[in-house]
Amino acid sequence: DAAGKAGHDHYMHKEIHEQPHALRQTISGRVDELGGNADLDIDLDDDFLRTLDEIHVVACGTSHYAGLYMKELLESLVDVTVRVDLASEYEVYDGHDASQTLVVAVTQSGETADTLSAIRRAKASGMTSFAVTNTVGSTITREVDDSLFIKAGPEIGVAASKTFVSQVTTLALFTTYLGRLRGTLSAEDGADLVEHIRQLPNAVQSVLDAEPKIQRLAEQYVDSDAFFFIGRGLAYPVALESALKLKEISYVHAEGFAAGELKHGPLALVTENTPVLAFLNDAAAADDTVNNVKEVESRGAPVIGLSTPDETNSFCEHSIDVPELGRLEPLVANVALQLFAYHVADEMGRPIDKPRNLAKSVTVE
Ligand code: G6P
Repeated sequence: DAAGKAGHDHYMHKEIHEQPHALRQTISGRVDELGGNADLDIDLDDDFLRTLDEIHVVACGTSHYAGLYMKELLESLVDVTVRVDLASEYEVYDGHDASQTLVVAVTQSGETADTLSAIRRAKASGMTSFAVTNTVGSTITREVDDSLFIKAGPEIGVAASKTFVSQVTTLALFTTYLGRLRGTLSAEDGADLVEHIRQLPNAVQSVLDAEPKIQRLAEQYVDSDAFFFIGRGLAYPVALESALKLKEISYVHAEGFAAGELKHGPLALVTENTPVLAFLNDAAAADDTVNNVKEVESRGAPVIGLSTPDETNSFCEHSIDVPELGRLEPLVANVALQLFAYHVADEMGRPIDKPRNLAKSVTVE
């Protein structure tokens, strides 16, 4: 056990720190910088991918948030409608052409019963199916038409960390591939995205290097009543994921909100004892979120802002620097909040690798 943890107190801590390496594996051989494209081994028919009208993503937990991140990428860069459903809620309705729909299961384990069941419903209706998974030979890979592997390496901690970041990265590569194939993503935008994908391992490393500061913040606020995470656009799914991480391993109340929704209800929960973690990344409409930061500050909440080191977070009580990385910046910010969740839970003495009531892979519906 100790050998497996390689000097870390928990597998999760090891896996958080493995991310630059995991990402290099995810990306290796798949980035075509000159062509502004992704080089992926996908067997689905090119004509089908060129002409499909809709993508349905089905997933659970952290993988669902990875799917929401892809939806933002695809809808802003590629001309395709994307629907993302919790696998347990997925119903196939009329009103779309199943033969022109791709259903994508995002599942780290490839064994989640809810996701397998959703894929079976989609297939029965005539859709083409695809899986994005970490597990070669898993059940999902035997049921779908084609699979793409995230290559993150095994993850032991029940709460997903490196697999989330590798999933989003793989989905960003898929976005590039699809956009270039359909001719809707320009070579220039493609080159931008793949350049950011290429820089991702180093960007993640620079956030990991800030661990002492993040740990101090976690220790300072460990006794808070609740934690709220706010973000827009690409940062909204990351706010949801960051809150889930904190809930899972610390058992503290944490919620992620779309920043603009605060005033429609959640603001009633905000006090001096509810820190707000705000994503102030350019690619996530930071200027608008700044207004929401002011709303919570005027109610006395301490704010931890995540952004590139510029003036947008200078008025937050605390800031965590995230390197500039275009559309992938919110993903890098997530790594800082994995560390935040880890250190809150560690300070509370929680069994981080095996939180109560949770399983790594849930094989019942
Ligand atoms: C379980 C795990 C979560 C995970 C979810 C989906 O609930 O505790 O961490 O996100 O399953 O798992 P999958 O393997 O399908 O990505």
